[in-house]
Amino acid sequence: MSKSVLLTGGAGFIGSHVVDRLIMENKYEITVLDILEPQVHGDKATVPAYLNPEAEFIQGSVEDYELMDDLIQNNDILIHLAAMVGVGQSMYQIKKYVRHNTYGTSVLLDILSNKKHSVQKVVIASSNTIYGEGKYNCVQCGVKYPDFREKPQLKEKDWELKCPDCGKKMDPLPTDETTPFNSSSIYALTKQNQEQMGLMIGKTYGIDTTILRFFLVYGPRQSLSNPYTGVCAIFSSRLLNNQAPLVFEDGLQSRDFVHVNDIAQAILLSIKKKKAKHQIYNVGSGESISIKNVAETLAEKINPKVKPIYNEQYRVGDIRHCVADISKIKNHLGYQPKVRFQDGIEDLIHWIRKKTSNNKSNSSQRAIDELQDKGLIK
Ligand SMILES: NC(=O)c1ccc[n+]([C@@H]2O[C@H](COP(=O)([O-])OP(=O)(O)OC[C@H]3O[C@@H](n4cnc5c(N)ncnc54)[C@H](O)[C@@H]3O)[C@@H](O)[C@H]2O)c1
Ligand SMILES: [Zn+2]
Repeated sequence: MSKSVLLTGGAGFIGSHVVDRLIMENKYEITVLDILEPQVHGDKATVPAYLNPEAEFIQGSVEDYELMDDLIQNNDILIHLAAMVGVGQSMYQIKKYVRHNTYGTSVLLDILSNKKHSVQKVVIASSNTIYGEGKYNCVQCGVKYPDFREKPQLKEKDWELKCPDCGKKMDPLPTDETTPFNSSSIYALTKQNQEQMGLMIGKTYGIDTTILRFFLVYGPRQSLSNPYTGVCAIFSSRLLNNQAPLVFEDGLQSRDFVHVNDIAQAILLSIKKKKAKHQIYNVGSGESISIKNVAETLAEKINPKVKPIYNEQYRVGDIRHCVADISKIKNHLGYQPKVRFQDGIEDLIHWIRKKTSNNKSNSSQRAIDELQDKGLIK
């Protein structure tokens, strides 16, 4: 018998790929609930053309208790992806982020704990941002979970993390799931709330719940109108508009970029494998790539005449390095990242080329202006 799945935020970048995967398996009935947030989908938002027509689409918000109540009654599996997703923007649109992300999740959990339902599985999307700087090693003092770099250090353009005990430069280590929370944005805090509330209610009422901490996801369908997400999408659309990518700090800060197909793989494993019950998993590629490497690779592939700009500015609260330790999800669920950055980036470029030919909007510059205005770029 087929199972019914409700995907909140399912018309977004990640959700739409998960819908495709589930439909390919031919054993799920899918409902997508999405508010079609104008920042992501444009002002006259309609259902995106990429959304698989075999999924039933409902426009609405996870904040709407009655609507959510109806939907939850009719589904066996909940994949909760709906969220506002801009880290920088969350520092001045605080109400909006807490409403969509924290309050939205509370509605879902309130229904699960008060109403009769047949939900057997909940998957909640979290983020690497809850780790802050994550895990480091000092050759002298061992493993450290450092705090954020302070302004005086950044003003000196002294970018690397220092050991809090001996002051020596530290090296980043792969960050595992036991790393303590260290959120530096309202967005990250809302993700932290989502995971903690989700697991607490899941365990209390015996509802199998899995938290997935996605690292930096890239791939086709990433919103180009939303300037607050996706450094790969931002750099690529600038290059296609003959604008140089703007690289903060010295470009040697590094991240773990994971292709959206691998995120979909992790979500499917989480709903199929019993071992995922009440677990938290990192979902990344396990490989660290510098932002300089990303900017230069993209420039070379898209517009070799344009060179990235390294202006040594910095953003308040930005982390220096963070790469996922993915051994837990590999061991428990058999997850294996399949798309390498060099290959995966071609998909994204192809998608952006198609979109950019009829979209010359300069949203990445708008985002930079807005952050500058709030004093969040120095
Ligand atoms: N893209 C990444 O790099 C990344 C990294 C870590 C975590 N995540 C998480 O993955 C999830 C999906 O992100 P994405 O990259 O696909 O973003 P996205 O913006 O493309 O998709 C999110 C979707 O949620 C919808 N939405 C927002 N608020 C809603 C509400 N109140 N009710 C119903 N729908 C609502 C939006 O309209 C959008 O379609 C989010 O929870 C995000 O925090 C993403
Ligand atoms: Zn030390």
